[in-house]
Amino acid sequence: MGINLSVQLGKLKLKNPVTVASGCFGYAQEMESVADLSQIGAVISKGLTLEPRIGNPSPRIVETPSGMLNAIGLQNDGVDVFIKKKLPYLKENNIQTIANINGSTIEEYEQLAERLSGADGVGALEVNISCPNVKHGGIEFGVDPKACEEVLTRIRKKTGLTLIAKLSPNVTHIQEFAKIVEGVGCDAVSLVNTYVGMAVDVNKRKPILTNITGGLSGPAIRPLAVRLTWQVAQAVKIPILGMGGINSVQDALEFFIVGATAISIGTANFYNPKLSAEIVAGLEEYLLKHNLNDISQLTGSLELNKK
Ligand SMILES: Cc1cc2nc3c(=O)[nH]c(=O)nc-3n(C[C@H](O)[C@H](O)[C@H](O)COP(=O)(O)O)c2cc1C
Repeated sequence: MGINLSVQLGKLKLKNPVTVASGCFGYAQEMESVADLSQIGAVISKGLTLEPRIGNPSPRIVETPSGMLNAIGLQNDGVDVFIKKKLPYLKENNIQTIANINGSTIEEYEQLAERLSGADGVGALEVNISCPNVKHGGIEFGVDPKACEEVLTRIRKKTGLTLIAKLSPNVTHIQEFAKIVEGVGCDAVSLVNTYVGMAVDVNKRKPILTNITGGLSGPAIRPLAVRLTWQVAQAVKIPILGMGGINSVQDALEFFIVGATAISIGTANFYNPKLSAEIVAGLEEYLLKHNLNDISQLTGSLELNKK
């Protein structure tokens, strides 16, 4: 009996549900000598902006127990270099590509969506709404329901590509945001982005990160991310791309069982770039062992009353 691992996110079909998260796998080519790229369901690009960015000054990473705090500040080559120099490699190697977009204004997001929609080889857009909205006092789009609705409504009008809204966990009711993005026509949601954190150099009595705060990722956040995935799965019908601290096959299974259609591996790529391939193999093994033949049978299979 064949096992079907392929999944659908809007119009985008993935050969398997294991993707690599934005900012944790570069533009994929950098990883070709240490990972088997052919095993990955989709590569989500480093966060793209209209213009190249050099990011925040160092220190911009702090190791934490079971995770890391980062304040990279969206260092990237800019969307034009991505289209001209990075996308051709991904296309030639048949790597399904999701472009992660970031703007300081709605207009910037719109332009990014337009440019990437016309580029050959982009399978979907993932919108990082955890970016400060400079026209509204720097409050992140992803924590302000009105700004979240407006930015995604406007991006939706600019693209026919599968549109994935990447939700911030730094809100009180994430379901509210999931419903908003579903309501304006997003095809899927991804969650979670990093949790805002801070670390202090006690000798100097100053923040370790130049940016003062950073985003916490890695195994430390997994139970939080699993809980949010479960809550969002009950609030919306669109598929969920679940992530946050996935470090093993077992971790990945948790996300599917609470309702994710696909998953993304972030921080773990920094110490085990082969993890995606290991998880693909492990999912197949699990399905076989449990007499299931399609990954969709696992999605949302959580039993609340089972003894
Ligand atoms: C170093 C680093 C850079 C990141 N850059 C981005 C980014 O550019 N855009 C984005 O949407 N998320 C970015 N993220 C968030 C990840 O894609 C992911 O949502 C988060 O780290 C949770 O998953 P994890 O615990 O498996 O890392 C970044 C995370 C890390 C650790």
